[in-house]
Amino acid sequence: MTAAVTAEDAARLMARLDQLASFTEVPGQLTRPYLSPSHRAAAGQVAAWMRDAGMKVSLDPLATVVGRYDGTDPAARTLLVGSHIDTVRDAGKYDGNLGVLLGIGLVEALHRSGTRLPFAVEILAFGDEEGVRFPGTLRGSAAVAGTLTDAQLDVADADGVTVRQALREVGCDPSAYPTAARRRDDLLAFLEVHIEQGPVLEAEDLPVGIVTAIAAASRFEATLSGTAGHAGTVPMRLRQDALAAAAECVLAVERICAARHELVGTVGRIEALPGAVNVIPGQARFSLDLRGPTHAERDSAWGVILAEWEAICRRRGTALSVRQTHGHDGCTCAPWLMDAMGAAIARAGIPPFRLPSGAGHDAMSLAGLTDVAMLFVRCAGGISHNPAESITEGDAQVALSVMLDLVQSLSPIPPARETT
Ligand code: GLV
Ligand code: MN
Ligand code: MN
Repeated sequence: MTAAVTAEDAARLMARLDQLASFTEVPGQLTRPYLSPSHRAAAGQVAAWMRDAGMKVSLDPLATVVGRYDGTDPAARTLLVGSHIDTVRDAGKYDGNLGVLLGIGLVEALHRSGTRLPFAVEILAFGDEEGVRFPGTLRGSAAVAGTLTDAQLDVADADGVTVRQALREVGCDPSAYPTAARRRDDLLAFLEVHIEQGPVLEAEDLPVGIVTAIAAASRFEATLSGTAGHAGTVPMRLRQDALAAAAECVLAVERICAARHELVGTVGRIEALPGAVNVIPGQARFSLDLRGPTHAERDSAWGVILAEWEAICRRRGTALSVRQTHGHDGCTCAPWLMDAMGAAIARAGIPPFRLPSGAGHDAMSLAGLTDVAMLFVRCAGGISHNPAESITEGDAQVALSVMLDLVQSLSPIPPARETT
């Protein structure tokens, strides 16, 4: 029997997205960092919905919720479908959460119609895609991909709590993380549905699009050390103001990135110490998020930025220290999956449209392990990482229908993987 999506499925998906948004650390806004109490509670809710949809549920050592819906052949490869349930501060409801809850809706539709695919489907709800709480990001999907390292568990949040301690606090055993890793030969593919987070699909008047590649990204923490002093007594020419130097560094990032096509650089966090109205800042710390279409373009821009920062700090008499907290070379999506997704979109009567992703996704981690594909869903006004983020119920229904058609069209044996 072939499973199909109904308008009620889309309405339920939207209602669950609203309900999941109530799991937050900050009343009145959606802020759900990795391994926070609200993340733990949201994971519990996701697990309950997975069970109701006919899945066996477990929590892996990185607190990723895993729901399994068996196929007809226990020896067949497994199809992974997933995204993340952590959020940025004051987030929208759809970034990450859409992909997880849509995956559950997918299995629900299969289960309701008594459909078993020739292969098992596992829905993964990762918890560390945004990198809001701890330095670095994508730990949950890296564990599944087998690329997580001990060092990534030893970093601490602003209160000095390490990832290991936080995992233990939610009942996970961080030392068991190697058991989360999957074997390449056991997997069919990884599929991720995600809000586009940009304006392209809206401009094309299309509900969904096929992602071709995910941009390369790096993140850094810079510390500038100057001399703290009295705001009233030290003449301007004799100051080593760390915040003024940092301000110049921020503007250098803007200028260098603006001059290079498709390169984006963002200083999203900055602080001045000691942080008093009448004290010249002796220290300034800021973050840099740098992304480019290829790792070569990103790395070449980073070389230019770092040289500029060093020149600014030399001229101003401030010391510079830089630490890289994240680096990912990006990835391309598998041609056979993009074609299969395109065929499912065409069967829905929609022109298949391809676009790259500037945002990072869990699919980047999985791409080193198995073939990946992503379906983007139109985003109102291109607004994301913002409480105004929104999608329509109609587009959610299209995405659910396309994904249900896609998974029912896949053969249990993937084509031979091309090595790049
Ligand atoms: C995740 O949203 C990222 O791209 O930073
Ligand atoms: Mn996301
Ligand atoms: Mn995000």
